[in-house]
Amino acid sequence: MLETLRSRHLSLGPRLPAFERAFGERVGSPHASAVSSGTAGLHLALRAAGVETGDEVITTPLSFVASANAIVYEGARPVFCDIDPRTLNLDPEAVAAAVGERTRGLLPVHIFGYPADMPAFERIAADHDVFVVEDACEALGAEHADGTPVGGRGNLATFGFYPNKQLTTGEGGMVICPEATTKARIDSERNQGRAPNMDWLDHDRLGFNYRLSDLACALGLAQLERLDQILEARRRLAVAYAERLEADDRPAALDGLDLPCPDSGGDRRSPFAYVVQVPHGADRDAVIGELRARGIDSKPYLPAIHLMSFYRERFGHREGELPVCEDVSRRSLALPFFPELSEGQLERVCWGLGEALAAVPRTADTALRAS
Ligand SMILES: Cc1ncc(COP(=O)(O)O)c(C=O)c1O
Repeated sequence: MLETLRSRHLSLGPRLPAFERAFGERVGSPHASAVSSGTAGLHLALRAAGVETGDEVITTPLSFVASANAIVYEGARPVFCDIDPRTLNLDPEAVAAAVGERTRGLLPVHIFGYPADMPAFERIAADHDVFVVEDACEALGAEHADGTPVGGRGNLATFGFYPNKQLTTGEGGMVICPEATTKARIDSERNQGRAPNMDWLDHDRLGFNYRLSDLACALGLAQLERLDQILEARRRLAVAYAERLEADDRPAALDGLDLPCPDSGGDRRSPFAYVVQVPHGADRDAVIGELRARGIDSKPYLPAIHLMSFYRERFGHREGELPVCEDVSRRSLALPFFPELSEGQLERVCWGLGEALAAVPRTADTALRAS
């Protein structure tokens, strides 16, 4: 960082290609483009994939809103399909059923760091000649069953480096590109449409300012060196939560709590947040209030995108369209999850959650069961 600060290269300097190379190696791709955010990366990845006004792109409603917004930026329509109740990722069967004449691509998200079923999505995409762009913003360090790092399967894939991510540059992102030509296009579009061989201020396409500064790249390089330690600490924390919340001596009020699914069939999560679903019939928002009264911060996480005001108004979505997602979303809350969380604090959160669940009234469970 200091070296970069002392150099005359605060942007578009030597740390940019160094970070891109090192990051690409980490996920097994020779081509990567650093950008100013995960959202910017998704936007450029979708443009590179060829999305156009009037197209439809199939995606998940259980994600951070940016994955759907990036589709709307280009005048395309996000078509939301329901999720798999175990992994909380987009359900391939629902996707296969939703492909239509206007479908131009698929945008699965590796939600909460759990690998989406990419082999299934790649088959669907090949069958219908549509593109795949992966939103891997939450999943650096996750692995597919065959050992391939998430983002390294040869699709366009985007990572995000916001401070809650496994690797952070404050703000930032990275697009993994299958080919050198795709990287060249993204490199140009992130820099106002400028081609590397053109004179200063000559631009041969529409572009954006989606650059990542050399300072941010220096931070990213330093974080990459420690990435294994960071990932290990996050994994330990997730394991400790699961052990505590599933312990034989846990409070009875925790019965029916759904935890993040364990790794299965060789897929390996890179824990992003620790998101649980309160038992059916328990009022999630009241649980959050009870936790707050005990000094424990938690968040409703994630709201279903199709039910957000903008998406309701623009696309006419209503409750009941995507029952699995809506059920999960209604019951979800994120517990404190950061590497500095001590064992004692984690213990307090788990007991607090038991007390909070015992304190809230339960209603008759008429909701769809997600499991
Ligand atoms: C799944 C997902 N997609 C996209 C983004 C957008 O990334 P950024 O905030 O870096 O723009 C985020 C994170 O914030 C995310 O979690």
